[in-house]
Amino acid sequence: MYEKRKGLFQAMTNVTNKLKIEYPIFQAPMAGVTTPKLVSAVSNARGLGNIGAGYLSAAETRGFIKEVKQLTKQPFGINLFVPEHHSVSQDEMRKSRQLLEFCLDDLHLNEINQPSTEPSTDFDQQLEVVIEQGVRVCSFTFGIPSEKVIKKLQHNGVFVIGTATNVKEAHRIEQAGMDAVVVQGSEAGGHRGTFLDNESYIGLMSLIPQVVDHTSIPVIGAGGIMDGRGVRASLCLGAQAVQLGTAFLTTKESGAHPLHKESVLGATEEDVQITRVFSGKSARGINNKFMTTMKIHEDDLPAYPYQNSLTKEIRREAAKQQNKDYMSLWSGQSPRLSKDISVDELMDEIVQAYQSMTK
Ligand SMILES: Cc1cc2nc3c(=O)[nH]c(=O)nc-3n(C[C@H](O)[C@H](O)[C@H](O)COP(=O)(O)O)c2cc1C
Repeated sequence: MYEKRKGLFQAMTNVTNKLKIEYPIFQAPMAGVTTPKLVSAVSNARGLGNIGAGYLSAAETRGFIKEVKQLTKQPFGINLFVPEHHSVSQDEMRKSRQLLEFCLDDLHLNEINQPSTEPSTDFDQQLEVVIEQGVRVCSFTFGIPSEKVIKKLQHNGVFVIGTATNVKEAHRIEQAGMDAVVVQGSEAGGHRGTFLDNESYIGLMSLIPQVVDHTSIPVIGAGGIMDGRGVRASLCLGAQAVQLGTAFLTTKESGAHPLHKESVLGATEEDVQITRVFSGKSARGINNKFMTTMKIHEDDLPAYPYQNSLTKEIRREAAKQQNKDYMSLWSGQSPRLSKDISVDELMDEIVQAYQSMTK
C-alpha cells in the first residue's frame, strides 16, 4: 500500500528531514500497548513507530528493540519514563491497600499484596541499551532527564524529545537542550506528562501555537488527533509533526487487550475522563466501576508509582478474567473516530484525507 501513496503527502518539515521519515506522523509510545509489530508497521508505513518502554526492564528493552530491528529497516523511536522521587510510608500504603478491598470479591482474589515502598526502575540501564542498540530517537515523559544524560544521548547521535503540557514546561525542555518537544493537549489519552505543577489541561488548539511562538525547538502535537483533519490542523497551527495514540491503539497490530480496543471503538467523547485512581498520576481513560467507586478517595491516594504498584494485580487479574470494570482503559477524547483497521490502512486514510484538503 505504501508504494501507492508514495510521494502523495507534501509536508516535509525539519522533523521529517532530520528523522528521515516521509510523513510527520508519530505513533505514540504506549507503554503496555506497543508491540514490535505495531512499531515496525508504522515505521514501514513511513511514519515514526515508537516503543513505549516505560514499564520494561533493561533486558526487556533490549529484546524489544532487537525484535523491531528484525521487522523494519526504517527509523523508529523509544520512550522512557523519567524517574520521580516521591516518598510514601508503610502506613499510607496499608490504608490505600484497604481502599482497594472492594475489588476482591468481583475478581475472586483473597488479598491485595503490599508492594515495596522502594520503587525500582532500570532507567540508567535502559539509557545504556538505547545507545548500545543505536536507536535514533528517544523521547521522555514525566520530567526532564539530567543535562549529562541529554548530552550523552545527543553525542551518540540520538534525537532527544521531551513532553510538555504548557509553555512553561516546553521552555524548560528547550533550556535543557532537548531537540524537540511533544506538546500534550488536554484531549490526550493515557498519563499526563505534566511535571512542573500538579495539573495542566490546555487544549491542543491553544497549546500548539503558544508553544510555537514561545520556543524555538520543533513542536510535535499530541491529543485527540485521529485522522487527516487533525494532522492538517496541527501543522497549520505550527506543529512540525503529530503524535497519535488512541488512533493506533485500535489497529490490528496494537497489543492493547481486545476488551480495551472494543471499549474505545464503542466509546463516546463523554465516556472519557481524567482519573488518578489507577496509578496516582492523572490519566485519561474510559470511565468504569473502578474509577467511579474510587473517585471519593482520589485526593488521598499515594503518588505514582506507588498507587500504580498497588493496583497492578487488580488490573492484571481483570484483564485475565475479561472484566473491564477494573481495567485501565486509556483513551483520548476522540474515541468516536477510532477504527478497527490495520496500521497501513490507517496511514493510507490519513494521507489521502490530508492530501484531499490541499486541493
Ligand atoms: C494507552 C496509552 C498509553 C500511553 N503511554 C504513554 C507512554 O508510555 N509514554 C508517553 O510519553 N505517552 C504515553 N501516552 C500518551 C501519548 O503519548 C499521547 O500523548 C496521547 O496518546 C495523545 O492523545 P490521543 O490518544 O488522543 O492520540 C499513552 C497514551 C495511551 C492512549
